Amino acid sequence: MKEELKIFNELVDALLNLEDADPVVKLGSPEDIKEVFDIAIQDKPISDTELKSVLEKIVLNTPRTASKSFFNQLFGGRVPSATLGELLTVMLNISMYTYKVGGPHVGIEVEVLQQICSRIGYPTETSGGTFAPGGSMSNFMSMLMARDAYDSEIQHKGVRKQLVLYTSVDAHYSIAKNASFSGVGKGNVRYIDVNDKGQIDVSKLEEMIKKDMHDGLHPFFVNVTAGTTVLGAFDDVNGIADVTEKYNLWLHVDGAYGGSVIFSEQHKHLIGGLERSDSFTMNPHKMLGTPLSCSLIVTKHKSQLLESFSQEASYLYQGDSDDFNLGKTSLQCGRRNDAFKFWCLWKSIGTQGLESAVDQLFHLADVGRDYVLNHKDYQLYSFDESTAVCFNYKDIPPEKICNALASHGKLMVGYGVFKEDTFVRFVTVNSRLEKSDIIEFFEKFEEFSDSVDFSKEV
Ligand SMILES: Cc1ncc(COP(=O)(O)O)c(C=O)c1O
Repeated sequence: MKEELKIFNELVDALLNLEDADPVVKLGSPEDIKEVFDIAIQDKPISDTELKSVLEKIVLNTPRTASKSFFNQLFGGRVPSATLGELLTVMLNISMYTYKVGGPHVGIEVEVLQQICSRIGYPTETSGGTFAPGGSMSNFMSMLMARDAYDSEIQHKGVRKQLVLYTSVDAHYSIAKNASFSGVGKGNVRYIDVNDKGQIDVSKLEEMIKKDMHDGLHPFFVNVTAGTTVLGAFDDVNGIADVTEKYNLWLHVDGAYGGSVIFSEQHKHLIGGLERSDSFTMNPHKMLGTPLSCSLIVTKHKSQLLESFSQEASYLYQGDSDDFNLGKTSLQCGRRNDAFKFWCLWKSIGTQGLESAVDQLFHLADVGRDYVLNHKDYQLYSFDESTAVCFNYKDIPPEKICNALASHGKLMVGYGVFKEDTFVRFVTVNSRLEKSDIIEFFEKFEEFSDSVDFSKEV
């Protein structure tokens, strides 16, 4: 292993140097991968030297998500203490189903989840949670708990009623997929309109629920988004909780993107009423910058978590109480240790450090928004208190500009759609950036856009 660690250090050194000097990789065509990289697998082994050179080419030509030019998705940057935790996780290679093989990490996961529950205001005695392989799967777990809480027979007999669930038109696409996976059916997802700021229209939600009940259907679940994927909008949790409490529906808050505002005194009002929800998803791999993937789901109803996910397995659970056999509350059997990297980060910088990171992202977004508002060639589409800055520049089609910026190796940024508009979606998710990095983004963006003939770009 020592030899591999030496190679690891050499490759990482080269990568770190390149991230600064040449922050955006020019990717060739995906059809050419096999020609450019030596990825074909053969029967015979290769030498360590050959392996190193194959690896070097791959590592140095992989998109550089930790560079200062990456604003493409809702993750990015590299936070050293969280990365250290992840590297150690790989070396330890435990599975988080039992105390017997997880050891102290079981306690670490529970500590993180309890801290989140108490921060939200969920009752300590009855709340709990788990780490799942991403926000989509955390959301899936919430839907399964809600389904089983609505009708406990479904686990054994299957779905026999027409269940319906509610979310906004701007919710993450995992809600539709999860409706399919859970047996509810994509056709039984009600997409509620949003207002001009991308927030679910609460009165339309209630109208739809009433109509479905009147028609003899079975409403059971409402998904609220805290930080919509494109605009970064926060639905009104309190307003929706009034409705879900009235009709006795499970209220889930999908905070995969924006849920980390729970750490910020300044911004946690965006998710006010969260303590009234039944479950909550948060992805530390987005706003908090831990390596992918790191997603957690917490619920006020720990007993439902156990009810929906536990299954006896005598070969596996051979001692210790269920409180330490975390496999009993997880979606999977073997489960990666995603809690440790988040704990490492939290332990090292404290809750104050997490708060500063979240505040910094909002500050950086303010810088971006101010820039757009103060420069006449831009049009702004997003709103205050969002870490997504959505804009267009000089009527250049955003798809063309974003694709060209990447293919010319300049910047990584994506585009999004809200209602009838398509725009560049610039997201601040790397809290290690500074104001000057944001200004530099816009300067590079303009310089490039003004120098390219977009009629020739695909
Ligand atoms: C609001 C929201 N929910 C869920 C997800 C899915 O999270 P993951 O990519 O970890 O599955 C995303 C991803 O961008 C998101 O923005």
